Amino acid sequence: MLRVSHLPLVHSALQSMTSAYTDVKGRYPLLGLMGGVAGVRIHSVSQVAMTRATPLLQSLEPQSGLSQRRSSYLVLTLILPQVYTCFFIMSTSSRTIHDAHTVIKSCSTTDPKEKAKIYNIWAENYEEDHKLLSYRGAYLAVDFLSEHFCGRPEESLVLDVACGSGMVANLMTELGFRSFVGVDGSKGMLELAAKTGLYQDLKLALLGTEPLPAQTGVFDVVITAGAFYPGSVPVNVIRELCKAAKPGGLVCIARGNYRRPIHIEYTENLQKEQQLMEEEGLWGLKGTKQIDRYIRNPDVECGGDGEDIQEDQFISGTVYLYKKSISASTSTQ
Ligand SMILES: C[S@@+](CC[C@H](N)C(=O)[O-])C[C@H]1O[C@@H](n2cnc3c(N)ncnc32)[C@H](O)[C@@H]1O
Repeated sequence: MLRVSHLPLVHSALQSMTSAYTDVKGRYPLLGLMGGVAGVRIHSVSQVAMTRATPLLQSLEPQSGLSQRRSSYLVLTLILPQVYTCFFIMSTSSRTIHDAHTVIKSCSTTDPKEKAKIYNIWAENYEEDHKLLSYRGAYLAVDFLSEHFCGRPEESLVLDVACGSGMVANLMTELGFRSFVGVDGSKGMLELAAKTGLYQDLKLALLGTEPLPAQTGVFDVVITAGAFYPGSVPVNVIRELCKAAKPGGLVCIARGNYRRPIHIEYTENLQKEQQLMEEEGLWGLKGTKQIDRYIRNPDVECGGDGEDIQEDQFISGTVYLYKKSISASTSTQ
């Protein structure tokens, strides 16, 4: 294999691909994100591809009369597709907690459009990474809702705001809910949600820059997990969630208490807005729940999986549950 990889054309084709990839990745962080750890392993990927192509190339080697054009053609058609295939396989498997941390840190951008692009790319590994991150936001929202919900789930219409891949709807079906409308700002995430087959309607909208695409006053439950953060869903969108709920309907919000100053300021503003809406008579608080382990803290490096993870390696979370006032006029919100 080594001999073959040192054949001038083969060697230079692999070299130029490696350096082109490294260069492009440096200039476009999103591409780097897509490749994740797999990207930096492109050289070993090339070696894997070489192993597969070796028998064929060895049989060609004695044919020294082979024209340069023909050899180039063989390199391009036989080896490079294998390199690309390996690259994509590696980028979608064997994820580690460090890969997940790298992506979640890149989500700290405060530009919503940039964040939607990150989610488009992350979609492929979103659920796997969130398992590694011990994400419990969707579960905690649904669990708290189930403690307070008194209606008939099979007859209830649910609006899942920032639905992502559909984790919330998946959990709610276990409680008997059947009708879901999902909204998300990422096309890639909506494609995953569509694959669940649980949503009767899915809408693409970047909230804060576009209005919530939902009918006013019709939803029995409006639920959102993991999206009310700086650079994601702005604070004032909370009013649109309340507006979409029917009078007497429930609005459930689950979020992590990230400790960066920008998050602390956002949380204070969110709580002020929630309080103001209570004072305006739009809704009443049914309860809140604090959770110690909402998700692993991306700012704390940690080892592998296991039960003995330290408490400071987690972000705590809060679930809020509101009941929309019967008297709340939808036109005045
Ligand atoms: C951490 S995920 C949570 C997804 C899902 N609710 C769950 O619990 O698994 C955050 C989701 O919010 C979406 N999102 C972020 N900002 C948004 C915005 N401004 N408008 C709509 N969706 C947004 C992302 O695309 C992503 O799917």
